[in-house]
Amino acid sequence: MASSNPFDYEALFAKNAPVSVRGGNRHAKYDFAVAYPPPETLPLDGLVEALKVALDREGRDLALYPVAAGLPALRQLIVEKLHRDRDMQVSLDDVVLTSGSGEALAMLIKALTDPGDVVLTEEFVYLGTLRQMRLFGADVVGIQCDEQGLVIEDLEDTLKRFSGQGKRVKYLYTIPSFQNPMGWTMTLERRKRVLDVTREYGVPVLEDDCYVDLRFEGDGVTSFHSLDDTGQVLYVGSFSKIIAPGMRMGYLVAPDSVRQRAMSFKGGGGVNQFAALAIEEYLKHHMYEHIDEQNQALRVKRDAMLASLGENFGDAATWSKPEGGLYVWLELPEGTDLAALQDQAFDEGVGYYNGTMFSPSEQGANFARLCFGHPTAQTNSDGIAELARIFERHGVIKS
Ligand SMILES: Cc1ncc(COP(=O)(O)O)c(C=O)c1O
Repeated sequence: MASSNPFDYEALFAKNAPVSVRGGNRHAKYDFAVAYPPPETLPLDGLVEALKVALDREGRDLALYPVAAGLPALRQLIVEKLHRDRDMQVSLDDVVLTSGSGEALAMLIKALTDPGDVVLTEEFVYLGTLRQMRLFGADVVGIQCDEQGLVIEDLEDTLKRFSGQGKRVKYLYTIPSFQNPMGWTMTLERRKRVLDVTREYGVPVLEDDCYVDLRFEGDGVTSFHSLDDTGQVLYVGSFSKIIAPGMRMGYLVAPDSVRQRAMSFKGGGGVNQFAALAIEEYLKHHMYEHIDEQNQALRVKRDAMLASLGENFGDAATWSKPEGGLYVWLELPEGTDLAALQDQAFDEGVGYYNGTMFSPSEQGANFARLCFGHPTAQTNSDGIAELARIFERHGVIKS
């Protein structure tokens, strides 16, 4: 019951505790703003069956707290998957389960960031990471990118500039596969050059590989982690994209010293054992068949979005043609303000996130991220036509 004289917390909040930035769960009729996998390919029956098998086998262990690093069998499955799919040689002890990869990133960011530290990211970057970095007072600097990934000259110049000012850059955060929001995958050549250049300046690379399995076209590129044998690369992965974000299961892979520090920021006594048991038992039998099914669904949805962009935007805009992942990155002519239009477009039925939200320097109002994974192909097609109509109505593109 609401009291007429509520307790006042205002003077008690920590200085770095922002007001929650999470909005409600409002969705536009055509929701291209938030990134979700296809709901129709969620393996619900498989997960229920897997959970039942796992609980019959070891359900009594739920009476205990899980080991801090998480269910060993799931960590072993991760070790084998990373070896097979990402050319990584890691052991069980190197892997820690986390509540989504978001928690893994937050733990690493907390362990490595003091207020005022310079950290580098791609020029547009996943806003959850950006938020965490800002929360811990980082000075986040975006590095230019092109279709092949980070632009080495800009990375080198930036490292040189800060080194000249006597500042050591703390780390480089990258999403090298199906980058969020830009959609490209960094080439092998670029990855090698990024490692060389950052090593020269003593800067670790934080590799966020959460989208890597969502490839429905073209050839994959090996991980940063596999190209390094010095411990310079910290690695983060997730089951949100190949199972479901609602499971809240991700992981980090890091050298002992970093893992120990990161673990000190992990609250809550390990991850949810229920979810870990279900995921392990399910993936042990069905991982690749499920990923294939999901990727086929994603390809159809991407194709519908790309076709509709072609029909409705013509040469009024340009957009990426991703070989996987969940995003198309739309670019309108410089000077276009999609930030100013975002709320209005939402009210008129189409949700998107404009580029400034992903930019460390709040640039890029002429860009928008369009997520194609959750709506049906038909909704993607209709929604893009509606977006074009909204842009025409508000003079962003000519009719
Ligand atoms: C690049 C990137 N990393 C990490 C995450 C966090 O995902 P989760 O915590 O669900 O694993 C997301 C979510 O969209 C993301 O886009």
